[in-house]
Amino acid sequence: MAAALCAVLVTAGVAGGAEVAPGDVSFEDSAVVTAITSEPGNPEEGAKVLANRGLGNCLACHAVAALKKEQFQGNVAPPLDGVADRWTPEQLRAIVADAKQVFGEETVMPGFYSLNVGVNVRKNLVGKTILTAQQVEDVVAFLGTLREAQ
Ligand code: HEC
Repeated sequence: MAAALCAVLVTAGVAGGAEVAPGDVSFEDSAVVTAITSEPGNPEEGAKVLANRGLGNCLACHAVAALKKEQFQGNVAPPLDGVADRWTPEQLRAIVADAKQVFGEETVMPGFYSLNVGVNVRKNLVGKTILTAQQVEDVVAFLGTLREAQ
């Protein structure tokens, strides 16, 4: 009984109110299987993070048709339309948390929940992640809504 309960908690995410620290996120085969917060991701909040230039700033590089009211979308990276058909939620979590784990060291995509951000980091950002664990889950939830059929 105890073992079964434990297994349920592991697949559902971390236990109540907790979150996984950036250095403790477990990447396996380009996926992060376990949610890094106990609170499920909120797609509406995730859309705001994508568009916010001080947070995700995803639209500097990626275009998203579902957010077409946002001006100045980027084209240095693939459009995110249909991304939920190309990647599983677990893979999307890995891409957002630390793109290097999926695309390799050379990627220009920032690691949004990683402390491995390079050497020329402003002093006040050392030891901080760009997004919080909850913002990562919110973004992953929003990406999960981006299907080709829309
Ligand atoms: C500095 C540019 C840049 C920013 C900012 C950026 N990305 Fe990326 N992203 C890339 C590039 C480039 C790729 C393609 C993989 C590669 O070449 O490294 C990519 C790939 C992806 C992919 C896989 C796309 C596919 O269709 O295969 C997803 C999902 C993604 N990014 C999500 C995001 C999200 C969400 C944000 C904001 C939180 C973000 N990216 C911010 C550059 C960026």
